[in-house]
Amino acid sequence: MAYVNANYQKLAGAYLFREVDHRVTEFCDQNPSKKDKLLRCGIGDVTEPLVPAVVTAMHSAVDDQGRGSTFHGYGPPTGYPFLREAIAQHEFQDRGIDIDAQEIFVSDGSKGDCASILDILCHENRIAITDPVYPVYVDTNVMLGHTGSVGENGQYAGLTYLPATAENRFVPDIPSVPLDLIYLCYPNNPTGETITRAQLEAWVAYALDHEAIILYDVAYKDFIRDDSLPKSIYEIPGARQCAIEFHSFSKSGGFTGVRCGFTVCPKELTGKTVDGTKLVLHDMWNRRWSTKSNGVSYIVQRGAEALYSKAGQTQATAIIDKYLENGRLLRQGCESLGLTVYGAQHSPYVWAACPEGVSSWEMFDEMLNTHQIIVMPGSGFGSCGEGYIRISAFPSAEVVAEVVNRMSKISSNIA
Ligand code: MLT
Repeated sequence: MAYVNANYQKLAGAYLFREVDHRVTEFCDQNPSKKDKLLRCGIGDVTEPLVPAVVTAMHSAVDDQGRGSTFHGYGPPTGYPFLREAIAQHEFQDRGIDIDAQEIFVSDGSKGDCASILDILCHENRIAITDPVYPVYVDTNVMLGHTGSVGENGQYAGLTYLPATAENRFVPDIPSVPLDLIYLCYPNNPTGETITRAQLEAWVAYALDHEAIILYDVAYKDFIRDDSLPKSIYEIPGARQCAIEFHSFSKSGGFTGVRCGFTVCPKELTGKTVDGTKLVLHDMWNRRWSTKSNGVSYIVQRGAEALYSKAGQTQATAIIDKYLENGRLLRQGCESLGLTVYGAQHSPYVWAACPEGVSSWEMFDEMLNTHQIIVMPGSGFGSCGEGYIRISAFPSAEVVAEVVNRMSKISSNIA
């Protein structure tokens, strides 16, 4: 019989979003008449369609694929030059940031990249994650045997958990211990809060001091509406020597179903093998891509490129503005319930503290069973998320209005 990866046995329960789906399905089976009343503010999935600039570009790319003279077979594994160059220019060079097209690796989204980056990193790393955290960072390390077993508090042995709480405004304090790999995500999923430039500078200084690497996830950076807040870690001097950055078109371009994102791996970034040999991560990541992937489809990459056209930028920004307005209304709805609310000012997630003594899953159950509103339980993102719920601002304006309406009728049984 074949041997299998026993690390999967260590995983504590199902992947969070599947667990929520499971509970919602169970609710629908038991309450078929309420199924149509459900308001979905759980997973952060976009609801606005692709913008016209993207649709036109993708149609035209389909036509290219239907003509012998413009047909494309296998593309470059790390992305077509037209997209890598557009990204390098619009995301970085136009903003005075030193990143070139060859440092951009186009992929089918940042979730996969956050997982596959571990292909080029080593078991020996001292790994830190924030708590609460996007569960992908944790589960992918568990699957590869980078952790021990899960404890009663839901934390895995061998990982360093950096508490992100209301006291530190959801940006962990700089650790006093040496670490090798640090996952950071800002604007943050799940808390919806973000990091200041000074705080990010402190993290870069820490990483440089300890020769650590920061795995920086900016999937939500296009929701930032304050120019003083960093949208890329490479705005900070020194970050080219200590950071890999993950980008996604999912939330900024409505690509959750289309699938496209990219990783930035600067050429200066090095790490060492356990015997002390220095290696260039860019070369390793390039090697990994050329072996394991044939890249993202031409049609999708043409769609992503269109997000950088003038029309594409205007149209995509208008959609993000709608989601931000949803977030503002949801914050107000929570506040009217007397809940303390964070996030959603530069992100699509509201992070609301449950009433005293009510756990995250109790609040999830109450919102689902009594009000038919699906939210995410904060404790699903880590033990420091206990006592919070996350509400997604991605539903349509009509759904958000109805959520707020139902919230306004909620009596003191939860607030
Ligand atoms: C979320 O709800 O946290 C995200 O949509 C999940 C994801 O991006 O994979």
